[in-house]
Amino acid sequence: MAIKTVMVGLATCGISAGGEKVFEAFQKELQEGADFLLRETGCVGMCYREVLVSISNGNQESYLYGEVTPDRVKRIVAEHIQNDTPIDEWLVSGVDREVGFFDKQVRIVLRNCGVIDPSSLEEYLQSGGYKAVEKVVKEMTPEQVIKEVQISGLRGRGGGGFPTGKKWELTRASVSEKKYIICNADEGDPGAFMDRSVLEGDPHSVLEGMMIAGFAIGADEAYIYCRAEYPKAVARLRLAISQAKKQGLLGANIFGSSFNFDIKVKEGAGAFVCGEETALIASIEGRRGMPRFRPPFPAQQGLWGKPTNINNVETFANIPWIILNGGSAYAAYGTDDSKGTKVFAMAGKVKRTGLVEVPMGMSINDIIFKICGGIVNDKKFKAVQMGGPSGGCIPASLGETLIDYQQINKTGAIMGSGGMVVMDETTCMVDVAKFFLAFTQAESCGKCTFCRIGTKRMLEILERITEDKGKEEDLVTLDQLGEQIKIASLCGLGQTAPNPVLSTLRYFRDEYEAHIRQKKCPAHVCSPLLTYTIDQEKCNGCMLCPRSCPTDAIIGEKKQPHKILQELCIQCGKCFTVCNQDAVIKD
Ligand SMILES: Cc1cc2nc3c(=O)[nH]c(=O)nc-3n(C[C@H](O)[C@H](O)[C@H](O)COP(=O)(O)O)c2cc1C
Ligand code: SF4
Ligand code: SF4
Ligand code: FES
Repeated sequence: MAIKTVMVGLATCGISAGGEKVFEAFQKELQEGADFLLRETGCVGMCYREVLVSISNGNQESYLYGEVTPDRVKRIVAEHIQNDTPIDEWLVSGVDREVGFFDKQVRIVLRNCGVIDPSSLEEYLQSGGYKAVEKVVKEMTPEQVIKEVQISGLRGRGGGGFPTGKKWELTRASVSEKKYIICNADEGDPGAFMDRSVLEGDPHSVLEGMMIAGFAIGADEAYIYCRAEYPKAVARLRLAISQAKKQGLLGANIFGSSFNFDIKVKEGAGAFVCGEETALIASIEGRRGMPRFRPPFPAQQGLWGKPTNINNVETFANIPWIILNGGSAYAAYGTDDSKGTKVFAMAGKVKRTGLVEVPMGMSINDIIFKICGGIVNDKKFKAVQMGGPSGGCIPASLGETLIDYQQINKTGAIMGSGGMVVMDETTCMVDVAKFFLAFTQAESCGKCTFCRIGTKRMLEILERITEDKGKEEDLVTLDQLGEQIKIASLCGLGQTAPNPVLSTLRYFRDEYEAHIRQKKCPAHVCSPLLTYTIDQEKCNGCMLCPRSCPTDAIIGEKKQPHKILQELCIQCGKCFTVCNQDAVIKD
């Protein structure tokens, strides 16, 4: 019998679900004499079923267990590993279960995530790792590399969608003795974790992509600017760099060629604006992370004044695959405008939250319903927020919109870096707009008046509307101010900050109007706009709600229907939560 390999998901999502304890439980079984190999792996995407453990039988057969706890380990070892009998009721896949999650995905960026051990250079090499950079330095010219990336149609995955091959061509054309590559791993959008998963699950693929970019543009030095809040990603990157150096894959005369390349990790400064390329460069140089006017673009004058090519983590992770399989194989996926695949972090009210990688051209509805299983508790799908704080809300009526830069822009949202927050009928769109604007307002670096003060005024208006103090003229002011901030801001933060407000005003204006005119929150979220009453027919006088009310606003005798004194009620909702007769009405 072939020896089995057990892989425990130990990316951030696996660790927060208790993966380390599960790993220790398997280690204990090993010490007690069980016979198997134990490895760790990254995020396979099914974050909603962590802790995930895959067991391969050494003969192509692989079984995935979900929601594994330390208590389950003994039985898995005894029955599956020692007795060849997989435990069907704990399996996620391997016996055809939840295949819908994977069978519509195309995994190029995530090809190794959840498959190999990210701390093992050997496993990366066995999966074809560093073959692309070897091919490039031995068989290709920089121009050929750039051409291949242009054929692939790859566009930057950091949010802007600028054609990657074109950017490389521009940086190559800048004449200088010294040039740099920067990998943008700042990933600051709330709800986004695509880059973190790639860095934690397959760090060498990002290093390899950066090396190929360095060869193409003529750079010999690189930085990865990684969010300091990602300690696991930083540790995995540092380990991968030291392994690659030890093996001679990084350093001087790579694969016996004249190509030299070195990569350093720089931890981020904890500000969203530092993801903006000119602010990021300032931060690496040790200056305050503040955007500057462009041109000159980094391709002409970047880090320490030298031509610099800056790309996102996901952009780089695509590159080795493109070189090995050809630009046209990549371009075979997608639409005329948008080629290849895109990774999305699925969050919010969707049944299967986690990471998915889909071919461009798939519809939003297909991602939400076919891959992610639809809406939690089968509630009504209301909208999806794409592109984080710079993006917008796409209503369910436009759910057939395709994943394509142009199509998504037409809705008023943006592709962004890949955050998708799914909302159902219980979400208040004014509240959502307020959440995202509060984020960008707090993160504004303060350089531009419209971004600094305009967003503050917009936020005050939203606060007023959700606190029962909205005025009729507020919506016109929000529209006007939003458009002005977009035009008058220097960097992408200010230029896109009003998007969540403008897109919700466009599609959900009736909700704003209900807050202002009827003083009602239709989704029952904004508490100052809610009224609690008790249904006299349903209330059995059990006394639960008067005991929970912090302001003694509920009156009534035991076993008699109760009443709420509106002048005392502070809309805390406790009575609504405790009543088990559904007698408290929230409106
Ligand atoms: C406020 C702001 C934050 C940004 N944050 C990120 C980020 O976290 N990661 C990223 O790759 N790009 C981010 N960008 C985009 C970068 O400025 C830049 O366009 C990108 O890194 C280029 O790489 P790409 O061409 O591969 O997309 C941000 C832009 C702005 C305006
Ligand atoms: S738009 Fe906002 S974040 Fe960008 S430079 Fe101006 S003030 Fe700073
Ligand atoms: S909402 Fe809160 S304050 Fe109002 S009646 Fe119920 S428990 Fe009391
Ligand atoms: S207090 Fe009225 S039903 Fe419980």
